[in-house]
This record gives sequence, structure tokens and C-alpha cells, in this order.
Amino acid sequence: MANERGDAAFVAFEHVQKSYDGETLVVKDLNLNIGKGEFLTMLGPSGSGKTTCLMMLAGFETATHGEIRLAGRPINSVPPHKRGIGMVFQNYALFPHMTVGENLAFPLEVRKMSKSEIESKVKRALDMVQMGAFAGRRPAQMSGGQQQRIALARALVFEPELVLMDEPLGALDKQLREHMQFEIKHLHERLGVTVVYVTHDQSEALTMSDRVAVFNDGRIQQLAPPEDLYERPTNSFVAQFIGENNTLPGSVEAISGDRCTVKLTDGSVIDALPVNVSKPGDRTLVSIRPERVEFRDDRMPADTHKLEAEVLEFIYMGDSFRTRLRVAGNDNFIMKCRNAVDQRRLNAGEKVVIGWNVADCRALDAA
Ligand SMILES: Nc1ncnc2c1ncn2[C@@H]1O[C@H](COP(=O)(O)OP(=O)(O)OP(=O)(O)O)[C@@H](O)[C@H]1O
Ligand SMILES: [Mg+2]
Repeated sequence: MANERGDAAFVAFEHVQKSYDGETLVVKDLNLNIGKGEFLTMLGPSGSGKTTCLMMLAGFETATHGEIRLAGRPINSVPPHKRGIGMVFQNYALFPHMTVGENLAFPLEVRKMSKSEIESKVKRALDMVQMGAFAGRRPAQMSGGQQQRIALARALVFEPELVLMDEPLGALDKQLREHMQFEIKHLHERLGVTVVYVTHDQSEALTMSDRVAVFNDGRIQQLAPPEDLYERPTNSFVAQFIGENNTLPGSVEAISGDRCTVKLTDGSVIDALPVNVSKPGDRTLVSIRPERVEFRDDRMPADTHKLEAEVLEFIYMGDSFRTRLRVAGNDNFIMKCRNAVDQRRLNAGEKVVIGWNVADCRALDAA
């Protein structure tokens, strides 16, 4: 069994379904292979089934249907202490009555390690998260970020082959979150451990992961490396969930190879890349990233279809300018331009001609 990277699957979900009440499926036919050493992120809106998948993998919930395998063996046949899985949860309470050192020693004592072995492993794990000086503190005597680092050290202290993290940074402020993202990423690289990570935060998912599985409504909508996901979303949900997208509704007039023509609702006709439209007459949402829209003639891509637009609002954002335009009847069409030395600001009321590369203009399902 190999995943898209050609690695043998270390974790495999096969036709997994889950229902808590015996009626509604909160996970619907999940198929996912995770390679050894991979950093895989599950990203999706609230209630889409991410935690449920993690819980089934950890063995805290059982699948209603299908099979989950770890290193080739069905998870149910491996006793919990032999699964070699470390876990970090959002706000995961460390044992409050224990010191940091005792918290970290706990999973090792459960595994009946010798005292000297425990001591050296605890020290190593604390050094790994730069918390060596905190072994004697109790959780209440530390900041949120420090506690989260200890939770991370505790999940790693017994050298698990697989670490599951459910929104581990959700409770931290932005600066600390970014610092911890960096730290987790480096630990992953250094230890070569397989990580399954859950987050709501798309920039976290894009910056940390080898691959991202976008969940919605109990299904994986797209599974791809970050760049693919952002540059080449395969459906409207992913296009709108990851980053920002302008959408123009219309219907397909003709398709030939990697071009289709789409008639927009105001009657204008544009060229697009047919992504998941199949025949003339199909309803579609054409999607274009704001940063791929150009209004300056000297920068206009050669292969472009120009459209007239009216400037409705100019928003200064420091490093970039956002201009809200009326395009083909859409009053919320955003163009994002870098605040470059030679950039021109637009004013409300101005008429401009905009364009983009046809390849950046994706004809997706009319969800
Ligand atoms: N123990 C449970 N009993 C019944 N229903 C549950 C249980 N746990 C979760 N659910 C339901 O299953 C669905 C998926 O929940 P899950 O916790 O997996 O979502 P999630 O993607 O992790 O969401 P969030 O981002 O909000 O954490 C939700 O509709 C939720 O209400
Ligand atoms: Mg959750």
C-alpha cells in the first residue's frame, strides 16, 4: 500500500465511517494513507469530523464501519500501550498535582522503565522544548505557552512513532503560536516522527504540513501538499476555504482541452481552465485569487481575457492594497496589489480594465 508520495502507508484509514447515534454519519467513507515520517494536517470547519478521526486513530472511539491500520496492523488488535502514540490536545490539562518532571515521568513509569532511564529521558525531553529549568514547577506556576511545551514534551518523551495533535496551539496568542509552530516543525524534522495534526487555522496548516487533508461534512474534499491546495483547488469548497477567492457564477459554453469558455451572469464571456466542469451547459463558479488579478497594462499577462471594472473602494493595508471592484455584476470582486515602489493607487469611481492568466481562472463546480 503506497500513498501519493510512494511511501508505504504507516497509518491507513480504509472506508472508515463513524456514527455516534447510529443514524447520522459524522465521518463518511474516509480513505487516507499517511506515510512514515509525514506531517499530515486535517483542516476543516467546526464539526467536520477531525477530532473524531483522531480519536478513532488513538483508539478512544471505534469506527462504525471500515478499518484503521497502524504499521500494517488493524488498530483494534494493538493494545493501547503498544500503539506508540503520543497525544497533545488543545488546553490539555497536565496533571495539576504533579510537577513538570513528574508529569513527564508518568508515561515512562506506566511503561515500567528503570529510574535512571526515566531520569535521562525526562531531561532530554525537557531540553528539547527548552524547558530544562522547569522540572520542579507545577502547571499552575507556568504560562500557557510553557504548559503547552510541557504537554508536547510529555507526548514525545516515550519516543512515540506517531504523535496526534488536536489544535495544540489554539489557546495561545498569535506570537507564541507562531513560535510554537516553528518549534513543532523543527522537532518533527529532527525526530522524524509521524505527525497527524488538527487545526482550524489555514496558515498554520499551510506552513507546517507535508500534506493537508481538507475536511468538510465528514469527507476529505482535497488531500494535497500546501502549494497544490492553494494554487490548484479542485472544488469550490476548497477554493473558498483556503485563502481568498473571487467567484463569478456562469455556465459553460464550450470546452476544448485545457480551455473552456464561460458565459457569466451579466452576459460577458471569459476563458477559464476547466477543473470540474465536463460539458457545455454545466453551471460553474469561476474562481480567481485576488493577487492574480492585474489592472496595469504593462503587467498584463499576454494570455488574458480583459474585463471592464469599476472601482468601488480602495483599502490601504500597509504591505498591500485591496481594491474592491464591480466586475460582471459582482460588487465584491477583490484585487490585491503589492505596495510596490511603482504601484498606482486607484480611486473609487475610476473605470479600469482588469485581466489575469487564463490558467489562474478555474472553472469549478457551482456548489
Ligand atoms: N461524543 C460524541 N457524541 C455525539 N456526537 C459527537 C460526539 N463527538 C462529536 N460529535 C459530533 O460529531 C460531529 C463531528 O465532531 P468532531 O468533534 O469530530 O468535529 P471537529 O471537526 O473536530 O470540530 P471542531 O473543529 O469544532 O473541533 C459533530 O457534529 C459533533 O457534534
Ligand atoms: Mg475538534
